[in-house]
Amino acid sequence: MARLELRNASKSYGKTVAVKDIDLVVEDNEFFCIFGPPSSGKTTILRLLLGLVAPDEGEIVIGDAAVSDQGPKERNLAMVFQNLALFPHMTAGQNLAFPLVERKLEKAAVMARVAEVAETLHITPLLDKPPAHLSGGERQRVAIGRALVRDPAAFLMDEPIAALDARLREEMRVELKRLQRELHHTIVYVTHDQEEAMSIADRIAVMEAGEIRQVGTPAEIYNLPNSRYVAELIGSPPMNFVDGTLGEGGRFQGREVPLSITLEGADGVGPAALAVRPEDLEIAAAGSAANGGVEASIYEVEPLGAFTIVDVSAGERILKVQAPGQPQFTLGERVSLVLDPARCHLFHGETGDLISSAR
Ligand SMILES: Nc1ncnc2c1ncn2[C@@H]1O[C@H](COP(=O)(O)OP(=O)(O)O)[C@@H](O)[C@H]1O
Ligand SMILES: [Mg+2]
Repeated sequence: MARLELRNASKSYGKTVAVKDIDLVVEDNEFFCIFGPPSSGKTTILRLLLGLVAPDEGEIVIGDAAVSDQGPKERNLAMVFQNLALFPHMTAGQNLAFPLVERKLEKAAVMARVAEVAETLHITPLLDKPPAHLSGGERQRVAIGRALVRDPAAFLMDEPIAALDARLREEMRVELKRLQRELHHTIVYVTHDQEEAMSIADRIAVMEAGEIRQVGTPAEIYNLPNSRYVAELIGSPPMNFVDGTLGEGGRFQGREVPLSITLEGADGVGPAALAVRPEDLEIAAAGSAANGGVEASIYEVEPLGAFTIVDVSAGERILKVQAPGQPQFTLGERVSLVLDPARCHLFHGETGDLISSAR
């Protein structure tokens, strides 16, 4: 399997800039996610890698070779399509054989290769079954097998499970991750679902309007978002943001929330936004606020079993707190909201860039 690279790649369609100055390295055997909202350029990156479109500027590298003048066939990358679609009228085995039959390979060679791939994927007992008789996870293995028979340099997947229902999606992404670990294959996986990206990837690239905003492991992206944009996209419920002003000595003063907190290492003075994840806020008895505490009241409670989302009214804003277990609150109850400065992020009020993060 191969390492993939885009060097300074740009592609426009008429006046629409699809991607701009993309510098990206997907390491050999890496499970790499491209994550971003619709129209942010995710599919265009896959099309550039595949060779379906040529970059206006920049270079595509597969393994050690620049491939910009090669067609899709020579690049030998496998695209796995949405829904992992299989031919319904063919058995799993015929589905696996299809790409080789299409290439007019000899029958004996086709059978040998199908048997080998089926063995690798642990789907030998399924080969005689039609797709309708397979579970979601089994269908996924067959769909991947169909790409694998060609021995591709890497797999590219464009929102392959986006259309499935939530439970099946969870099952599929665990399966896919296990499969990638077993097979040691390079996978570039496109999704607009942050939870999917977080749960499946070795590393994630976060896209905004044709550009990459941040690349990192799921933990890096979650704990150290480099911009308000990334911070807003990752995490559910999303981070709380309080707009305000950063003063001398790292003193932040909220505007709509009566909140005042000193953040060590926060240099600069001006408009800023304090950000804190719901699980990093704590609800304490009223009046117990120290540095960073805010007087507040309980607005709504959503018990979800393992944890509870509590909406807390502070100043003119509602902030979300994720509390472990099933704490009991009365609506309207007065409480204090406690912020730990070590768990706060501070973003520039205008650019949205990270000013400081104690994490
Ligand atoms: N073939 C095309 N012709 C014209 N515009 C396109 C074409 N493909 C993509 N675009 C535009 O390029 C931008 C990025 O598209 P795309 O890469 O498909 O984004 P994503 O996969 O993140 O939704 C969008 O604004 C889209 O409308
Ligand atoms: Mg797309």
